[in-house]
Amino acid sequence: MDSMQGLKRTHACAELAKTQAGQEVTLCGWVARRRDHGGLIFVDLRDRSGIVQAVFSPGVAEEAFRKAESIRSEYVLAVRGTVRLRSEETVNPGMATGEIEVYGAELRILNAAKTPPFYIQDELDVDENLRLKYRYLDLRRPEMQRNLLLRHRVTKLMRDFLDREGFVEIETPMLTKSTPEGARDYLVPSRVNPGKFYALPQSPQIFKQILMVSGFEKYFQIVRCFRDEDLRADRQPEFTQLDIEMSFIDREDVLTMMERMVAHLFKDAVGADVALPFRRMSFDDAMAKYGSDKPDLRFGMELMDLSDAVRGSNFKVFEAVLASGGRVKAINVKGYAHVPRRELDGLVEYVAGCGGKGLAWMCYTAEGIKSQITKFFNQAMIDRITQASGAQEGDLLLIMAGEPASLNPALGQLRLEMARRLNLIDPDKLSFLWVLDFPMFEHDPEENRWVAMHHPFTSPRDEDLERLDADPGSLRAKAYDLVLNGVELGGGSIRIHSRDLQERVFRAIGLTAEEAMEKFGFLLEAFEYGTPPHGGIAFGLDRLIMLMAGRSSIRDVIAFPKTQSATDVMTQAPSEVTARQLKELHIKTDVVVKK
Ligand code: AMO
Repeated sequence: MDSMQGLKRTHACAELAKTQAGQEVTLCGWVARRRDHGGLIFVDLRDRSGIVQAVFSPGVAEEAFRKAESIRSEYVLAVRGTVRLRSEETVNPGMATGEIEVYGAELRILNAAKTPPFYIQDELDVDENLRLKYRYLDLRRPEMQRNLLLRHRVTKLMRDFLDREGFVEIETPMLTKSTPEGARDYLVPSRVNPGKFYALPQSPQIFKQILMVSGFEKYFQIVRCFRDEDLRADRQPEFTQLDIEMSFIDREDVLTMMERMVAHLFKDAVGADVALPFRRMSFDDAMAKYGSDKPDLRFGMELMDLSDAVRGSNFKVFEAVLASGGRVKAINVKGYAHVPRRELDGLVEYVAGCGGKGLAWMCYTAEGIKSQITKFFNQAMIDRITQASGAQEGDLLLIMAGEPASLNPALGQLRLEMARRLNLIDPDKLSFLWVLDFPMFEHDPEENRWVAMHHPFTSPRDEDLERLDADPGSLRAKAYDLVLNGVELGGGSIRIHSRDLQERVFRAIGLTAEEAMEKFGFLLEAFEYGTPPHGGIAFGLDRLIMLMAGRSSIRDVIAFPKTQSATDVMTQAPSEVTARQLKELHIKTDVVVKK
């Protein structure tokens, strides 16, 4: 192995261009590819900036050529040589440095490498677990480097933007108090307080509100949050939020400030022009028209209500649903009347998987309407359906019936599925949406109690307050979510800032006065010492970067993510600990460890 002694890196690989022709340079990096053309050896040398071609020839430097014969992929090299223009036939227009190459005068092998378990290249098709086990190799791939550099760039832009707007970044504790709301907590045992546990923060929610009580007025933090919940492509057990809180503001101030920030981030980080203001929609409209509180508006295909059109038919299924207060709704899949029968059968199964009960269809073909249900309708009903749905020749109506609570989400998922199948989603489109006026509470059937839909520190709308005790389900909250292309990017609310109202909301979610004091006494007390009206929002940073980078999993924008089963396959976390460690923590487990 050679040392670097006496050699100093002068350039990054991809920094080199025609202007350096004739210069002597020293480069460092990894061997991306090596080709032996008999008398010449070509090496694609890769560093963080990109790739440049080095050439070794016995006529130029005999010793360097001999060494180049022994190198393999991923060896670490230092190369001293001269930049030369490539001849016209050998210019590579597909490569940023394709007009030049570096003729090696000296080659040092700084480190050898075993053959990697997968190629270090973009668009890799290998099992993700293998990538995660050898994450250091996976992160060498240009697309992963680009993703993490983008992440760095975006957090820098955020900090600069918020600093200019007068926000202060303040850190809040990681070892904190377990609270009953939200997802499951990650717990940390306290050695010096036997039998007691800290919780890792699910978000800094209460601390940022306390900072408003303290008078900081504008707070932000780029902060790790921990939630022990089921994992998905856009959910990790630890993830990062851009967390924000402001005093003396109303909803409008938060929304417009955040719109400006988001537009600035997209422009500066990925060169995208974002149109302002963002669209807005109430939660009720989003559910009724798209069957989702995070609708993807890059395509239409809204859910349509056909209840009135079909009322009174001989179709027992629809009649029963309508009689019990349910609805009959449809989507119009334009131009897809020729859908194969086999696919329709598959769709029936698909909606069953989404909690839908059955699927009917009407294919508006040139030979008339083909359907399994029109025999139950008279012509006037069919005309009403056609009119209500706007269906034309060539269209396919997919129709479902049920209670809105299950019907809307199931039909909403079918809408997304049909858009995917028919390629209706433009991947380059950015479709931002504020969803507003969320219900304050939702009913948890398992525990048979109301739970806060956002969190219990969210303020109900003033005009709804009088119904807080009598009809909590009817309250709307001063809560808002930012949705981009069907992904929930962020959420926040205007908060409660009086002890009295906070206590009433705790009561509504079933906390006794004692429980409320035990869990949140410090907050209730703080509210009595001069609390400004305040509100805020938190963005999922991982999701934001994922969408900016055009990826479909947040694992691709996190350096060391966890698998679907919350493990780190590289370090093998979580792992067993010694009996001594457990004893010190006063912990006994009932898990039998296999030796
Ligand atoms: P909320 O729970 O909506 O609000 O979280 C804010 C945003 O964080 C992201 N997010 C996640 N990202 C990755 N993995 C997860 N497991 C995960 N969970 C949430 C989402 C989400 O929109 N304290 C409040 C904010 C406030 O009221 O100001 C909060 O945490 O993008």
